[in-house]
Amino acid sequence: MLAHHLNFAIHRSTPVHLGVTGSVAAYKSAEILRMLLQVGLDVSVTLTSGAAKFVSPLLFESLGASAVYTSLWDTPDSAFGHLEPAQKTKAMLVAPATANTLAKMAHGIADEILSTQYLAFQGPVLVAPTMNPRLFEASATQDNLALLQKRGVKILEPESGEMACGETGRGRLPNLEYMVIEVLRALTVQDMAGTHVLVTLGPTQEFFDPVRYWTNPSTGLMGACLAMAAWLRGAKVSVVHGPVDLWFPPDVARVPVVSARQMYEACIDLWPTQDIGLMSAAVSDFSPVPFTGGKFKKRDIQDGDMRVAFTSNPDILRTLGENKAPGQKLLGFCAETGNLEHWASFKLQEKHCDLMVANSVTAEGSGFAVPTNIVYVLDAKGRNETWPTLSKSEIGWRLMEWMTQLLD
Ligand code: C5P
Repeated sequence: MLAHHLNFAIHRSTPVHLGVTGSVAAYKSAEILRMLLQVGLDVSVTLTSGAAKFVSPLLFESLGASAVYTSLWDTPDSAFGHLEPAQKTKAMLVAPATANTLAKMAHGIADEILSTQYLAFQGPVLVAPTMNPRLFEASATQDNLALLQKRGVKILEPESGEMACGETGRGRLPNLEYMVIEVLRALTVQDMAGTHVLVTLGPTQEFFDPVRYWTNPSTGLMGACLAMAAWLRGAKVSVVHGPVDLWFPPDVARVPVVSARQMYEACIDLWPTQDIGLMSAAVSDFSPVPFTGGKFKKRDIQDGDMRVAFTSNPDILRTLGENKAPGQKLLGFCAETGNLEHWASFKLQEKHCDLMVANSVTAEGSGFAVPTNIVYVLDAKGRNETWPTLSKSEIGWRLMEWMTQLLD
């Protein structure tokens, strides 16, 4: 799961508030709490009386909520529980949000704890309407949502599907990763709004015959962390990716490809409209010359001697570097087994990059299929740094910081 990796230091210990209302989906809010804690946030929780019929406050306390509020009148530690989220936290997520709570929020009704806390809240608020499709489509609910949206509340659109009541339609709680990452975005300064960012990530697969291909162990995590760092800061992100098992928010444009040649074509198409290219894909430099007679069989081997010829693939990064318009910036990676500084400097120039990130694929805690990396970073102005072992999300964040400084 991508969200599990997005533990950016910049958001660590930031207090946020989770409101839970009386929907069948309330049981999923315990997992939302766990995920918010996992990305490093400090989370307080309010259960409406309806929510408390589905799930116990003790569950949220036990999972690590910093405070759990359940009533306007019964706040053991403080008489001002109705004001505390506004005073102490930086964003509020109401998930699931019932028609009743949304109506109270829209009309300033402060007769229970959550809607009162919302009324006092001045930071960003996100709501995930979750209810029977008839309730969701009702004019009153839609009008209330429009009113909330007009006031700046972010509506996390419900998903369609089968409901607990057996009916089918719009009203299901959205993907939990989506809600968590939208909370992170609400906490982030949108200093890349209007910037178009192209990211390549993952491996490529070069087929020899219909059942065999040449590839590498890339999972795409480093590139996904870069993409998410840009997305959180408001950038319009396009991801061209090889075969990977990664989720991205719905407003990330995804272009799935298989081979290096397909990745090349997709990048050539997109590059003229981009401001920044972050090329983290582990592109296969060579492809086997395909066997054309269907599946290659043992009996096709002549005299026990199996040989496969390879041809070179186009270098995507170098092609984009050679076609850089004024103002466009490019970041490349080089995965090496040694001599990182030499190769970073060589490839920075060879591929016309503005920033080159060299990582060792043999050092422990670095390279393919691990959540951390050890990198040496060099820019075209000569600034260079070696970073200690860091999570890929932290490296992604720092590289975006560096890149935005090069844009100025
Ligand atoms: O030359 P090398 O493969 O080490 O360069 C790695 C960098 O170049 C990475 O940023 C990778 O995404 C990019 N690359 C590319 N097209 C290729 C090979 C590498 O874009 N065919």
